[in-house]
Amino acid sequence: MGLRSLKGRHLLWLADFAPEEVRHMVDLTLELKRRFYSGERILPLLEGKSIGLLFEKPSTRTRISLEVAVSQLGGSTVYMTPQETQIGRGETIADTARVLSRYLDAIVARVKSHSTLEELAKHSTIPVINGLSDLTHPLQAVADMATILEKKGRLSGVRLAFVGDGSDNVLHSLLLAGAKLGLSIVVSSPPSLRPDDRVMARALEAAEETGASIELVVDPFEAVEGADVVYTDVWVSMGQEDIAERKIELLRPYQVNSRLMEKAGGRAIFMHCLPAVRGQEVTDDVIDGPQSAVWDQAENRLHAHKAVLSLIVP
Ligand code: CP
Ligand code: NVA
Repeated sequence: MGLRSLKGRHLLWLADFAPEEVRHMVDLTLELKRRFYSGERILPLLEGKSIGLLFEKPSTRTRISLEVAVSQLGGSTVYMTPQETQIGRGETIADTARVLSRYLDAIVARVKSHSTLEELAKHSTIPVINGLSDLTHPLQAVADMATILEKKGRLSGVRLAFVGDGSDNVLHSLLLAGAKLGLSIVVSSPPSLRPDDRVMARALEAAEETGASIELVVDPFEAVEGADVVYTDVWVSMGQEDIAERKIELLRPYQVNSRLMEKAGGRAIFMHCLPAVRGQEVTDDVIDGPQSAVWDQAENRLHAHKAVLSLIVP
């Protein structure tokens, strides 16, 4: 049976996509990257399409690589913030969604609360794509899976050790994507910072189907043993400034430094979605060291955006 078309689908989290659909996004990411460097003509897959970028939080990678991705595929973007639209004066998300649906072909939204994405999707007649919420960051995970495939030559059975905040939005998407693609994920975090129950339930359900595994441990040294990938993210995510002090204190034993990378061994690559707080969750020698894949990882956001948008935008 062929792949079901992804055109017109909302992408709020990867739980809504079948393993072969997620794999298709990843494979297309690397195919578009190959074409980009081979000098082959870039297909105008988004010619005449207008993509709205509604961002409630700052962004460097997601915003810029989306704008460039859409432009490389022949489309255009409109960047919007609550302050510069009537949302800031109280126009509802539902009404905003109804109106934007009359102008645009898709909306990528970066939101404080995942429920804003759900509300947008409910009232939009165009696809709504999650550009990061407090719960998940699926576009990041698609690019990350492409990076792992590129570096390791496979996804199935790859051992990914996530070290740090077990309740992190990027980790949630790695769990969902990894479970769909057969990875073996070990999360090491303080017991009070565990993944969201809804994410775990959906990831475990997918893992059963694909043979992936998910393990939660406390000790970071135990987690990284035999790892192919050591992954971390910031300890204090956007919007968590009020609990920053408590989180930093809890996460201190989870810094990715040369001692931890030594335990992981020479074949492990280091990944971080960025931005990094150098000297906090990761030391300079690791992020700038020979095992670091972070710049290729950041670049792959561009190619992943081209893949996902060309598959989803009708
Ligand atoms: N990784 C990531 O989403 O980065 P930005 O916040 O810069 O978009
Ligand atoms: N967990 C981080 C990811 C940033 C890309 C945050 O939400 O701030």
